[in-house]
Amino acid sequence: MSVLPRAAIIGIGICLPTRILSNQNLEQMVETNDEWITERTGIKERRIAAAEEATVDLAERAARQALKRARVRAEELDLIILATATPDRFVPPAACLVQHRLGAKNAFAFDLNAACSGFLYGLVVGSQFINSRSSRYILVIGAETLSRIVDWSDRNTCVLFGDGAGAAVLGPAKDKEGLLSFYMRSDGSGEDLLQVPAGGSRLPASHQTVAEGLHFIKMKGNEIFKLAVRAMVSSADQALAKAGLTRADIDWVVPHQANLRIIWAMTQRLEVDRSKVVITLDHHGNTSAASIPLALAEGIERGDLKKDQIILLTGFGAGLTWGSAVLRL
Ligand code: UT7
Repeated sequence: MSVLPRAAIIGIGICLPTRILSNQNLEQMVETNDEWITERTGIKERRIAAAEEATVDLAERAARQALKRARVRAEELDLIILATATPDRFVPPAACLVQHRLGAKNAFAFDLNAACSGFLYGLVVGSQFINSRSSRYILVIGAETLSRIVDWSDRNTCVLFGDGAGAAVLGPAKDKEGLLSFYMRSDGSGEDLLQVPAGGSRLPASHQTVAEGLHFIKMKGNEIFKLAVRAMVSSADQALAKAGLTRADIDWVVPHQANLRIIWAMTQRLEVDRSKVVITLDHHGNTSAASIPLALAEGIERGDLKKDQIILLTGFGAGLTWGSAVLRL
């Protein structure tokens, strides 16, 4: 009996804009201070895209690095999934622009919006094409320019987010490595907890919606906080069980980087030591769909995450969306 191929991450790349916005910079912009932001979120600074940069620019750079490291040529790609909540435009899909820029002429490409869970969703969707042998190489990108939809006069949200991109090339696993299991969920009853109210078909952009700031992110942070902890813990347990593993088998947790307190509450409940958690939000902020691939890449770069280790990826976001995936590097 032939075993279906498992998808493995064979190359990973990142892109961060050069401009750094520190908590001290934010003190000059809104009624806030470094102490509050650090204590309540763990964030010290975040990257902000230059005026001429948009999501596709960041996605392209991360993708080029991932392809190079994977030793895969753009023409060898069968599929490009771009997870983003901040595409350059509604139409055309941003993934097609990335496909064209890379010269990935044999790939089909589409955007996937699962907010902060976007990269996880993309990883799971992409892996199915490898499992079914319908594709060999797939590029999954998480890229965001959240700075474009943040209200820079709203201290409740503007201190949290940052811009960036992370990309992973998926290919058939050669050995024991790859995506071992996942557990993904969605619940649209939480639509009002985190949303951009206007600009879509429900409330098209108008002078009035812009005047009222309805094209910016609105968030009920407190409520999301509690749900996020529960969702990540339960999905992590489900994903581990599906892989035939236990919490004790986890070598590293790579969580969505929204808030340090959320991450510590989650890992405490999972009974995972803090030393096994990759943290990048202190210097990236919350980069939504880019946060997990950025953290994964940095963990590998630092030499913390190594081949053969069991990595738990876990995240949550607007939708609501959430889930966990278990990966052997
Ligand atoms: O990526 C996925 C989705 N998003 C998230 O994961 C976010 C989840 N939520 C959070 O991270 C936290 O709820 C926040 C960081 C957003 C807020 O932290 P909190 O501990 O839940 O604070 P809070 O909203 O309860 O606000 C506490 C106080 C309020 O003042 P009052 O009403 O108690 O007088 C806020 O007005 O802190 C005030 N506050 C600030 N003060 C200084 C809110 N933002 C700021 C600020 N600087 N930037």
